[in-house]
Amino acid sequence: MKLVLEALEKANTEALPALVLLAEQEKLLGELPKDRSRLQSQVSAVLKNQAGKVLTDPLELVYATDCIIGILQVPQKKGLSREDRLRLAASRIGDLQRSRSWSKTAISADGLTIPEMKALAEGLHLSAYEFRKYKSEKKPEKSEAETILWVAGENMKKAAVALAEAETVSGLINTCRDLVNEPGSHLDPNDFTDVARRAAKEFGLTIKVRDEKKLQSEGFMGLWTVGKGSDRPPRMVTLGYDGKAAMKGGKAPHLVLVGKGVTFDTGGISIKPSQGMWEMKSDMAGAATVLSALCAIAALKLPIKASAVLCLAENRPGNAAVLPGDIFTAKNGKTVMVDNTDAEGRLILSDGLAEAGALGATHIIDLATLTGAIIRAIGPSIAGLFCNDEDFTRLMLQAGGTASEKFCVMPLEEEYREYLDDPVADMKNVGKQEAGAITAALFLQEFVPPKTAWSHWDIAGTAFTTAPWKYYRPGATGWGVRTLVEVARMLAG
Ligand code: BES
Ligand code: MN
Ligand code: ZN
Repeated sequence: MKLVLEALEKANTEALPALVLLAEQEKLLGELPKDRSRLQSQVSAVLKNQAGKVLTDPLELVYATDCIIGILQVPQKKGLSREDRLRLAASRIGDLQRSRSWSKTAISADGLTIPEMKALAEGLHLSAYEFRKYKSEKKPEKSEAETILWVAGENMKKAAVALAEAETVSGLINTCRDLVNEPGSHLDPNDFTDVARRAAKEFGLTIKVRDEKKLQSEGFMGLWTVGKGSDRPPRMVTLGYDGKAAMKGGKAPHLVLVGKGVTFDTGGISIKPSQGMWEMKSDMAGAATVLSALCAIAALKLPIKASAVLCLAENRPGNAAVLPGDIFTAKNGKTVMVDNTDAEGRLILSDGLAEAGALGATHIIDLATLTGAIIRAIGPSIAGLFCNDEDFTRLMLQAGGTASEKFCVMPLEEEYREYLDDPVADMKNVGKQEAGAITAALFLQEFVPPKTAWSHWDIAGTAFTTAPWKYYRPGATGWGVRTLVEVARMLAG
């Protein structure tokens, strides 16, 4: 999809097959260009039809002689932010454009604020995404199709910056979706490592890779233990970006993003039921999301030091697979009894948290499709946010608001810590039936480096959707990249 900016005052509507006006109730959010202004009364009449009622159909088309003018009501979908409703409107425009094969579509956006224009652009990019790699019918690339955004001349500069950011970040969200949609057998920990190597080269990041031997010799036993059941061995990938970070209270922030990268989660010896197991190809969404976010932070040259730690393993039963009851010693010296091999995410993340500490993190965020329990608790549209620091929580919630990604703040309820007590080892990896998302977070907290602001995002619900959701087609969403970029921007100050 090609998205270009044009000043409304200089808009050229010759040879333009279609233009779209956004409306909200009776108000238009963008003007018609001068050479079309004689159509204004017709447009107003559509908006407010004869009976005096406001346009009820969300979309109506006015047929001028040489150009179709679409009037699109911004969807009033309950619970969505204004920016998200504009992303949704953009996805409808994209659908229309594709189904009618318009070679050029202009959208009048001069009535929108800069963040709203940015959201509109993101909606166009994100809704155009399709995972077609495994379709035998290759659709011809409609690279000629162009979308033009008309904005007031005085806003052109700011709009251009916002649109460039939207393109960069949405592009990386779509890259993340490609990775997450890839079937398990086509993307194992080593393949994922190759992807990270290419990304490091493209975005100028430092990279360090630990293979299964290094993991074992350096004591990263959580990742090693989970990965050993598969003959596709585990990897830990550490990526670094160093923007010129400003000192804050004598300390420059270092944001370390840790991602769960289980390239396929069969459950291991505690094997999962086969119904819906295919969705576990998306169990590496945390790692894919933090990789894309770090690339975006680097591409936008944000003035902050940031790193990403990808914990990559395949969870699979095999000759060498970890057995229920087995005990290992984690990187920080604590011993863990593996009660259920399907609670593998928290085991591999214990090593990611240790690595974040070794890097000197001031702020850690781990992202993981960690528990089915979080979906039962808050449903598929919201991520669970756990945090040990109130200021950091506030900052992340504000970032999520800017990005239109929703969180529910979850408690690190210490009363439930005893659910993880084990008579033999220091702890076991599962608690009781109830409060499963919380006990998973409490398990992780045992491995957080001292005096570090830490947050855990359980994205099991938001990372992958089996039905269309907002402006996302079924499949991976890349959820979280936008908020992480905003968190980095805010920490950079
Ligand atoms: N990857 C799953 C969690 C998951 C479930 C993500 C559904 C997305 C959709 C995780 O590794 C897992 O299996 N968790 C178990 C934990 C249990 C054994 C304590 C779960 O949620 O059932
Ligand atoms: Mn599992
Ligand atoms: Zn898992």
